[in-house]
Amino acid sequence: MNHSTEIKLFPSILCADHGILAQEITDLTAAGVDAIHVDVMDGTFVPNFACGAEIMRTLKQHTHLPLDVHLMITNPAAYIDYFRALGADTISIHAEADPHAARTLAKIREVGAIPGLAINPGTSIESIKELLPLCGHVLAMTVNPGFAGQSFLPFTLEKLRVLGTMAAQHGFTLCVDGAMDPDKIVELHAMGVNAFVLGTKSLFYPQPNRPAYAEIIKKLRCLV
Ligand code: DX5
Ligand code: ZN
Repeated sequence: MNHSTEIKLFPSILCADHGILAQEITDLTAAGVDAIHVDVMDGTFVPNFACGAEIMRTLKQHTHLPLDVHLMITNPAAYIDYFRALGADTISIHAEADPHAARTLAKIREVGAIPGLAINPGTSIESIKELLPLCGHVLAMTVNPGFAGQSFLPFTLEKLRVLGTMAAQHGFTLCVDGAMDPDKIVELHAMGVNAFVLGTKSLFYPQPNRPAYAEIIKKLRCLV
């Protein structure tokens, strides 16, 4: 299948250098990315802690880009108003973290954000398909959530192929998260994936010799 749609690129702020966070945000904004992906972790749903109110406020101070908030937390319904008030434009909850995901997705829409559903690598389409018409955004994990810098899980490919077709039908953005590199971006875009979280393998790879963000982003856009 040939998808000619442009790709959306969402750098994960988790992977930036937090010692110079304001500069990182300014540079990413100038590089022409489409939104900033914010990985929120609560130490319960995933075995790690990351990105709360302070990071959201710093982002709001230094960029006008949309904030794409990925809630890796238990009981996400309790924090929709909280993250919306902090400036979240898209809020993705994990299907596995919420027994009433339909209600929470509706709530996200009510507060004026784009409702997103994140699914773990092991979560099947069958278990979430009724929720898809409620989503503006589907965030398919290609690593187990909790840490940057892991390896891509190849068993997710079959699911991405099916979701790619469904994205076109339902009109949601299909975003992949975890271990995206340039080759994977090309491969998954051909399956109908139209948004990519950029982490350690595509944008924030170890220095030295790393080109400026603007240069990397320009090259990534030329890939498809
Ligand atoms: C994983 C996070 C990802 C991650 C991206 O739990 O949701 O956004 O930080 O980093 P890489 O691309 O290195 O996997
Ligand atoms: Zn994420």
